Amino acid sequence: NLIMKSAQTIGVLVPNVGNPFFSELIKGIQTIARENQFIPIIFSSNHDAELEKYYLEKLVERSVSGLIIASAAITAEVIDEILNPNNIKYLLIDENTVEAGDTVQTDDYHGGQLAAQHLIDLHHKKIAMIISDSLTNNLRRRLQGFEDVCIKNDIDLKTDIVKIASPMTKRGGYEAVTELVKHPEVTAVFTINDEMAVGVYRGLRERKIDIPNDLSVIGYDGIEWGEYFSPKLTTIRQPIIELGKKSAEVLLNRVNNPKVKTQTVNLPVELVARESTTQNT
Ligand code: RIB
Repeated sequence: NLIMKSAQTIGVLVPNVGNPFFSELIKGIQTIARENQFIPIIFSSNHDAELEKYYLEKLVERSVSGLIIASAAITAEVIDEILNPNNIKYLLIDENTVEAGDTVQTDDYHGGQLAAQHLIDLHHKKIAMIISDSLTNNLRRRLQGFEDVCIKNDIDLKTDIVKIASPMTKRGGYEAVTELVKHPEVTAVFTINDEMAVGVYRGLRERKIDIPNDLSVIGYDGIEWGEYFSPKLTTIRQPIIELGKKSAEVLLNRVNNPKVKTQTVNLPVELVARESTTQNT
């Protein structure tokens, strides 16, 4: 029956479909959706809260079976005013500022720890962190892990670490380099995601600063592109497709069994050491 089938949809809201992280995530979601005869409807909100709310309302109007929301603008209010009254099942993942319902996440805290430990193992002591200008819970955990390892290794967060906040995009990374180069003592940079590293690469190249000999760069995410950067990007890999798959599984399980008790999935991350980091001599 065609009408029944059309109801088998899940809405997916991501902040930036232009970032390969989110396209890989969607790949994972699609795979599981298809296996279960569900169709995902995908929206990219460009980090725009108004747009995000608009898409959300449209999705609810179309009575989707459930929502996967990887986007920061979902507030407790939106949940109370839009989702709960309409009894829409939802899963908040990745970039979010509220914790509610089921959880599917990667180990951001450990990822931050791994990034800091890698730079410290290479004897870096003066480090820049290029972070997002709007921090969500996952990013906060990532930074916490990074900073905790710094502190344990006698790196002073006030005097040894330069923190630069910028939009979490290629352009944001590129623009952060203007500030970065004001700190010549820095020998290594941690960018909070791989996309920002693309911009950092360009900013450094334009100033004839060599990666990794003048400056080591470590990203975060493990998008497929990292291997095609020159030099190949050292990063922390999140199992992105798996994150998408598990998210769809957990949401569909919730849709099919609304009474099931709160589900939690934690996925591991790993260091991928490539060419963009080297020893500080
Ligand atoms: O590149 C996208 C980034 O934003 C990832 O690190 C992901 O975890 C999200 O927070």
